[in-house]
Order: sequence, then C-alpha cells, then structure tokens
Amino acid sequence: MSFSNSTLSVNGRQIELPQKDGTIGPSVLDIGKLYAQTGLFTYDPGFTSTAACESKITYIDGDEGILLYRGYPIEQLAEHGDFLETCYLLLYGELPTAAQKADFDYRVTRHTMVHDQMNRFFQGFRRDAHPMAIMVACVGALSAFYHDSTDITDEKQRMVASMRMIAKMPTLAAMAYKYSIGQPFVYPKNDLDYTSNFLRMCFAVPCEEYHANPVLARALDRIFILHADHEQNASTSTVRLAGSSGANPFACIAAGIACLWGPAHGGANEAALKMLEEIGRPERIPEYIAKAKDKNDPFRLMGFGHRVYKNYDPRARIMAKTTHEVLAELGIKDDPLLDVAVELEQIALKDEYFVEKKLYPNIDFYSGITLKAMGFPTSMFTVLFALARTVGWIGQWAEMIEDPSQKIGRPRQLYVGPPKREYVSISQRG
Ligand code: ACO
Repeated sequence: MSFSNSTLSVNGRQIELPQKDGTIGPSVLDIGKLYAQTGLFTYDPGFTSTAACESKITYIDGDEGILLYRGYPIEQLAEHGDFLETCYLLLYGELPTAAQKADFDYRVTRHTMVHDQMNRFFQGFRRDAHPMAIMVACVGALSAFYHDSTDITDEKQRMVASMRMIAKMPTLAAMAYKYSIGQPFVYPKNDLDYTSNFLRMCFAVPCEEYHANPVLARALDRIFILHADHEQNASTSTVRLAGSSGANPFACIAAGIACLWGPAHGGANEAALKMLEEIGRPERIPEYIAKAKDKNDPFRLMGFGHRVYKNYDPRARIMAKTTHEVLAELGIKDDPLLDVAVELEQIALKDEYFVEKKLYPNIDFYSGITLKAMGFPTSMFTVLFALARTVGWIGQWAEMIEDPSQKIGRPRQLYVGPPKREYVSISQRG
C-alpha cells in the first residue's frame, strides 16, 4: 500500500487528506480527521463513495465485470475448485495443499451435527414459517448452545466458531426445509462431500435410500462458490458493524442473515423467479419491460442491476451455464421459465433504458431457475445464499477482529429534525 496526499479546499481553508492506494482498484481519501479539522462530516447515504475498511479478501471491478477471491478469478475457482477449498482460501488467504485440504474437510465434517436440543427449538415455529425467519433465529441461538466458542478475544475459539457455522449451516438449512414440509430431519452423513451431504439432508427420507446426483451436487457446489463472498455488500457490512461492538460471531452472522433476506439483496433470487412466473410467456415481456421503465411504477426487473457491477456480473455468466447443465441433466428440454428468462435478457440487453443505466443480469437472474429445477422451493433460495455466504461473512468478521485499528462502527448524521424546544404539558397542547 502506498500513501500520498490530496488537498481539499473547505470554506477557503486547504486541508491535507492522506490518500491511500490499495494493490488494485480505486484509492481512498482518509477523512478520519476531517471533522476534527473542519467541524464537517461527509454525507454519503448508501455508502456509494465510502470505503469502510481495508480488506485483503475479495476484489470487484464492477466496470470490467471482474471478481477475485484472494486474487483468484471467480471463473477459475468455479471451474476447478470445490466449495470447501474456496472456504479455506477465503479464511486463510491461500489455496490449501492436498494435506491442508484434507485436514480442513475433516475439521468441517466433524462439526456437521447440531446440538440435539435444537430439534426442540424448531418445534416452536409455525409450520409455515419462512425458512429465513427460522435461520435468523437458529443461527443466533447457536450462541446459546456453544458457549465455548463465543470469546472473540481467543483466536482458537474464533476458529472453532467459524468451523461450526460453515459445518452447521447446511444442517440447519435442511432442517428448516424439512420442518416446513413436515418430514423428519435427516442427520448429516459424514462420508459424503459437503454439498452431497446437504442435498441428502434436504431430499432423503428415512424409508428410502438416497444418492445425490453428482451433476446436481457439482452444480450446487459451484453455486455455493459463486455466492461465497462479495466484499462489503449490505449483509457483510451488517456483520462487520454488529461485530464491531464485540458481539459474538453467531449473533453477528444472524444479523447478516437478516439483512440478506431483503429483496434488494439476497431475496432477489426468490423475487426474480416469482417475476419470471408472473410474466409466464415471452409475449408478455414487453409489458414488463415497459413497467420497469415507467418512473411512476415501482416495479423493477428482478435479477437486473447491481450497485457495483456496471457490466455483466461475472457470476451470472457461470450461473447461466450451470442452469443449462442442470436442466440438461434433468432432461428438462422446454422450461417456459428459462424461455422467458433468455428472451427477457436478450430484450433488456438491447433496450436503451437498460443499456444507458448499465443494468445487466446479476447472479440472481438465473439462480432461481436452477434451484427450482433441483427441487428447492422458492422460499429456500435465500437460505441457500445465506449458507454459501456464511464463509464470506466469517472471513470478513475475523479480518475485522484481527485488525488492530478496528473500532466500533458508528456513522454520523445530518440532523434535519426540529431544533431544541421546550416541553409543553398535554393540557396545553392543541
Ligand atoms: N429495473 C429497472 N430499473 C432499475 C433496476 C431494475 N432492476 N435497477 C436499477 N434501476 C434504475 C433505477 O430506477 C434508477 O433509475 P433513475 O436513475 O432513473 O432513478 C437507476 O437504475 C439506478 O438505480 P439505483 O436503485 O439508484 O441503483 P442502486 O445501485 O442503488 O441499486 C440494486 C442496485 C438494488 C441491485 C437495483 O439495481 C435493484 O433494485 N435491482 C433489482 C433487485 C436485484 O436484482 N437485486 C440483487 C442484487 S445482487 C445481490 O444481492 C446478490
């Protein structure tokens, strides 16, 4: 990292602001002392120009459509690696050797079961509870079950908590699904790989043998890789902010899950599929394109647009390929939803409104079709996103805790409410 200064003129005064340069990507102006020097805050709702931290984990170039985990292109990781290798990379910074990978897989696998009392916890939910509601509650509740990994000052406990969450998230996600359909929970089977094990916990029943289809397991594993981290997005920033107060890691990840649930973020895959179902057939696409362009209509094309990508989301390309592979494996030749999606994408990519605003398909555009074909209900889509993003949240949380300059996150505000005024007793108001 290199440093230089920039000069800012504030009310006629010249202020020196240190400029910090990263390895790649935009440099930042360090405004940490601006308030002390000028009495002014900066104003940036939505953090469109604000870097909140230094990070070595993930790099995005939104204009070029580039995504790197620890420097490695997402395309290469998705093509050649597996999800647990990606987890190792995100957590430790380097790709594992064969021995390190075997050891990591073993450590994750030893933590796949959840405390059996969690079963009783589930019984308290309504049968029709949204599985994301269950996930927020159950992941937060892990801190009530695993007291021996909540001391954030202990490096060993931090790592045990990380392993626990990566390992238990599939088990909890599958339990949330099984609970919603009234089937018995299926315990993890540790001789299976991470993703096959998850598929089995979701789709096996005690009365029949179940073997995960390797093509589907590989496709889902790739989907997990694509979702594993995405630098300082809303849910990751939520995890960092929650963690900055010293909250335990399970509580922080529960906060991240809550944030992910929103339709502008992780909930978009569910919303995108519902939109494709609502459109129903290619002839109706122009009507929906017109709605999306109408300033007086709040409708947006779900699965389109991204705060950072002003180019094709690199994950969306891999996702589209995966969608075709999954549908081919399942022998689904004519999927009306896929027809609508392909046509919608073609039309939107040529439409002046979308071109001018640089609105391209994001990862959520195709992921819903794929997950639906695999047998997941729409309500599980965001849960699968949370499962995969857990490692990113944990990696970013750990990076923050280990940063000696870390302090509690505490944004400032521009106050526009009433100035100081005197209390009026209720009998005199009117
Ligand atoms: N359909 C139609 N118009 C859109 C869309 C869309 N999907 N997305 C953005 N726009 C328009 C906005 O109306 C706005 O137009 P204006 O400048 O005329 O007012 C302009 O493009 C910029 O939009 P903003 O909302 O200011 O952009 P922002 O960066 O804040 O939002 C977001 C990004 C939330 C992803 C947005 O594009 C969106 O709502 N997309 C649909 C939801 C979605 O797919 N979310 C998934 C994100 S990826 C993820 O979380 C994995």
